[in-house]
Amino acid sequence: MRRLTLLSILLITATPLWAQMHDVYVSDKVRVQRCKLDGGYSRAVAVGYLGGFNYAFDAVRCAPVYTWWGGYIDFSGEVTGRGGYGSKVLGIRRTLGADAVPLRIGDADTLPGNIEFNGYRRDVQSGEPTFLFEVDGVEVEQRVLSSGSDQVKIELVFPESYSSPRYYLLDPAVHASVQLSDGVKWKRNGVIEIPAAINKATIDIRLQPADKTFERKLPDMNGEMVFKNFCNACHSTDGTKLIGPGFQDLWGRESTVTVNNLTKIVEVDEAYIRESINEPQLAIVQGYEQVPMANFSAVLTEDQINKLVEYMKGL
Ligand code: HEC
Repeated sequence: MRRLTLLSILLITATPLWAQMHDVYVSDKVRVQRCKLDGGYSRAVAVGYLGGFNYAFDAVRCAPVYTWWGGYIDFSGEVTGRGGYGSKVLGIRRTLGADAVPLRIGDADTLPGNIEFNGYRRDVQSGEPTFLFEVDGVEVEQRVLSSGSDQVKIELVFPESYSSPRYYLLDPAVHASVQLSDGVKWKRNGVIEIPAAINKATIDIRLQPADKTFERKLPDMNGEMVFKNFCNACHSTDGTKLIGPGFQDLWGRESTVTVNNLTKIVEVDEAYIRESINEPQLAIVQGYEQVPMANFSAVLTEDQINKLVEYMKGL
């Protein structure tokens, strides 16, 4: 059985809020969505992996144009039809340094005369897409992967043999380092050469570290809304047991918890509730050892926690 990771717990529980904001988060398979995307890409395909790695493939340039780590996309621009530029990515956009058409056949310095986007094929199991296109008549299959933060691997497969070398243009300013697969080499700064004999090339890019962090602007919520959006999936407000204990008559009741392998009886008060939110592993309610509660200290703002605690006093 797959373990329920902290991330997936957060994804499951926070769905209502994000749904309300038209955000789409990646839950089980790789997400692939055609849309208009930030940055002026009118024909983009947004790809979102489970661990938070995302990238935008531009079907006009036939290239991955940027990546972001974090959430997937906020579709509100498209859903509400307010115009403007469609969907927003939920993270800091980081260019991959391929603004013009990066793949060239035979001649690195001339834009291809003909580019044809043929869609993508998806892996049945994982949902991962392989983009299919032709540049000056040469068929290309492209995947983009990540093996960690700041790391992007571009894989290019040429299913048929041709006699010309291919070139991939990569702006040197965006990466800290690049590793090329066997036989692939730098022609000059910013231009990678894939000799004609090579049918599969990988370009492993380590990006320059991001210069800012992403902050999601959440709508103003009162305590009840915070509860509904972040706690409700595991805690009912009547007696029902969900993944966690029910919260009927919560305030002032006694809980039997395990702290450092010792059994303790604690009274539910403000300090205990705050501790449950910020450091849920300190005291585990007996009978609920299987699925530990996720830590919400990084998810909720101080103000949201205050409102939540006030709301919970009345349960
Ligand atoms: C993924 C499920 C899950 C979510 C979401 C969740 N909890 Fe929990 N919570 C649990 C589980 C399981 C326990 C019992 C184990 C433990 O104490 O860690 C628990 C225990 C608690 C307790 C102690 C209850 C008692 O009877 O002593 C409090 C208080 C609490 N959670 C508050 C919250 C608040 C507030 C939120 C929302 C910000 C929240 N939880 C979100 C699963 C969850």
